[in-house]
Amino acid sequence: MRDKLKIAIIPSTTRPGRFADKPMAWIKAMIEARPDMEATVVDLRDHPLPFFDETAPLSMKPAANAAAQHWDATLAGFDGFVVVLAEYNHSVPGVLKNALDYGFEGWKHKPMGAVAYGGSGGSRSLEHLRLIAINLRMVAVGGAVHIGGADFMGAIKGGDLPEHLDPSAKGLLDEVAWWARASRDKRSAATAQAAE
Ligand SMILES: Cc1cc2nc3c(=O)[nH]c(=O)nc-3n(C[C@H](O)[C@H](O)[C@H](O)COP(=O)(O)O)c2cc1C
Repeated sequence: MRDKLKIAIIPSTTRPGRFADKPMAWIKAMIEARPDMEATVVDLRDHPLPFFDETAPLSMKPAANAAAQHWDATLAGFDGFVVVLAEYNHSVPGVLKNALDYGFEGWKHKPMGAVAYGGSGGSRSLEHLRLIAINLRMVAVGGAVHIGGADFMGAIKGGDLPEHLDPSAKGLLDEVAWWARASRDKRSAATAQAAE
């Protein structure tokens, strides 16, 4: 069995000049420094999806749209997800919500955590993301990084993300790793059982 957990880092925004790239590079470096995980950026810019126009939710019927099929198949290759999460009007950016709606099997039974940012650390957005993740049959982990207040303002003006955020990143990643390993083992056992 392969050992390293495959973690997708998914930015929640696609607009030109987005801030997302800074925390995305930061958390990618944190993952790459660990022996138990490997990180891949899965950028929504590379997965343009139409606004949801399927005849049923993907939990009931696979997507007809080829781009959506490719998106869910891409998600299926990962053991867990770290969303780099902005807050747009106190919730998750629409482009992320659409991408969440356009997956199901690829999300199911896997952990999702977040590096959230905004004036109040993206906390309102993350609470919404957690509720959405639960409906997608994911494990929404409690650990998180919140880049807010002066840390956010400093970073948006070109400063580095401060070192005092490192322990919350470690806590987040430890929790994602625990659930990613547990759910990967369970999926492998279920696949083996189905093949008997
Ligand atoms: C449409 C929109 C709505 C926003 N709403 C909020 C908000 O509710 N709370 C907040 O902290 N910041 C809000 N902001 C500011 C964002 O935190 C800031 O622009 C951040 O850089 C957005 O992430 P991005 O650069 O990756 O797009 C909003 C920004 C946009 C573009």
